[in-house]
Amino acid sequence: MSDVITLNNVNKTYRRGREQVHALDGIDLTIQQGEFVAVVGPSGSGKSTLLNIIGAMDQPDTGQVTIAGQETTTLKEQGLTRLRADTIGFVFQQFFLQPTLTARENVLLPTLFARQKHLASRADELLARVGLAERANHLPDELSGGEMQRVAIARALINKPKVLLADEPTGNLDSQNARAIFALLDELHDDGLTLITVTHSEALTSRAERRIHLLDGRISDD
Ligand SMILES: Nc1ncnc2c1ncn2[C@@H]1O[C@H](COP(=O)(O)OP(=O)(O)OP(=O)(O)O)[C@@H](O)[C@H]1O
Ligand SMILES: [Mg+2]
Repeated sequence: MSDVITLNNVNKTYRRGREQVHALDGIDLTIQQGEFVAVVGPSGSGKSTLLNIIGAMDQPDTGQVTIAGQETTTLKEQGLTRLRADTIGFVFQQFFLQPTLTARENVLLPTLFARQKHLASRADELLARVGLAERANHLPDELSGGEMQRVAIARALINKPKVLLADEPTGNLDSQNARAIFALLDELHDDGLTLITVTHSEALTSRAERRIHLLDGRISDD
């Protein structure tokens, strides 16, 4: 297996008034292609900060981050946008669908920023994959929370990412909808996708092959 994500001595500090918050404190981490990783830890331990850095949405203050062989600290904004679009899919607790676009149009949105272009047919394949073939022309407010999250997952997959990052993907869902998302993530993992999820859900954590515990910006257990 090959390494897809490598972090070397990554540090991230936020300033809050006069206070310095050490959100990440000397993180060393290697994740291999195809792993299913759950990042867990108390509120404020740095989980979202870590995920944002792994996804090149945020840069560390010091240290090195390599994503699919590219060192992010050497890239400018345009290079980072490209790397994100080509390599990473994101899913968030709040779904972040565009309210004026249909499910299909939401799924196609990331193709605007990617090098590879896809046909609308790929969006329809993905919507079918997540069980929403019949909902392609619906607007987000015509969908349930679970359906919106499945649209968001289809959107995250449209550019064929190497890595899917999910920050509390079932945090806004009831247990039945959460189970549908767990099953979908299991399937994607079986297909070889690298999955990294931040979660408070024991049901989701128990499905991962590897758990990374954060405490005060450090890995306390891996
Ligand atoms: N933009 C920011 N400005 C200032 N401080 C921040 C910022 N983002 C995060 N922090 C601080 O950095 C620390 C880590 O935050 P982070 O969001 O990564 O935690 P988390 O583990 O995801 O927490 P939660 O489980 O509540 O989502 C916290 O102390 C937080 O207050
Ligand atoms: Mg968080």
